[in-house]
Amino acid sequence: MLFEKPSLRTRISFETGMQQLGGHAIFYSIKDSPLGKKENISDTAKVASRFVNLIAARVFKRQDIWDLAKYADVPVINMLDDFAHPCQILGDFQTIKEKKNTLEKMKLSYFGDAYNNVTYDLMRMCAIFGWRMDVACPNAPEYSPEQIVLDEASEISKKTGATIRLVNDAIEAAQDSDVVYTDSWMSYGIPQEQEEERKKAFMPFQVTSLVMKAAKTDAVFMNCLPAMRGYEQTAEVIDGPQSIVFDEAENRLHIQKAIMLFLRDKF
Ligand code: CP
Ligand code: NVA
Repeated sequence: MLFEKPSLRTRISFETGMQQLGGHAIFYSIKDSPLGKKENISDTAKVASRFVNLIAARVFKRQDIWDLAKYADVPVINMLDDFAHPCQILGDFQTIKEKKNTLEKMKLSYFGDAYNNVTYDLMRMCAIFGWRMDVACPNAPEYSPEQIVLDEASEISKKTGATIRLVNDAIEAAQDSDVVYTDSWMSYGIPQEQEEERKKAFMPFQVTSLVMKAAKTDAVFMNCLPAMRGYEQTAEVIDGPQSIVFDEAENRLHIQKAIMLFLRDKF
């Protein structure tokens, strides 16, 4: 498990999951490695493949995941990059299925920072499942989804009938939602000096009780965590009866075990 960014859930759930499956997981901080200084990613991928059955990586750049996958002789799991967080989103959809008993025809609304890996994978999944999704974010390119992801989602939506919209009003986005979702305003790697400016920009998109009231009465509240109470959502919401954030976190363990078992045949 190569980590270029911090982690609580991903690291612990992968380590625990691998142990429960009878294997062993090695935590390796990229900070302590020659990668990018004395060694390139293709050598890292080739060497690691001689020792292990599976590589998992949490990196900044998507290209690094692609390069690992290209040069490794073993499967590579993306544990988050700046463009995606697939293990999170698979666990999230498992959680939604558990709570709603179905994955048919839902509406998911997302609030806050939409220039964001988790938002992007939610868009991809809502597109694949033919859902409605409203992304409520400031009207500014630095906080909105990149065009390439909008295009990717819209291409899939043509086949599935999904509708994915950008909305600048939180209450409007929440209306008719089955799932209300938010993510950190300060994703890993965002410089601390941007915090105040970002807080100001995202505050109109904070998930409050009013936002939850505008959604369906049986709507669930999700956040991949880590979460700051008083930022992306109020304490009342994340600690309230509609919040399923800890079941969501637990499912990281179960879904990742399933992913590793699925990949075992390719070892
Ligand atoms: N949700 C998630 O991936 O959390 P960590 O950053 O703690 O792994
Ligand atoms: N968007 C967040 C997700 C954390 C799990 C980040 O990249 O930091």
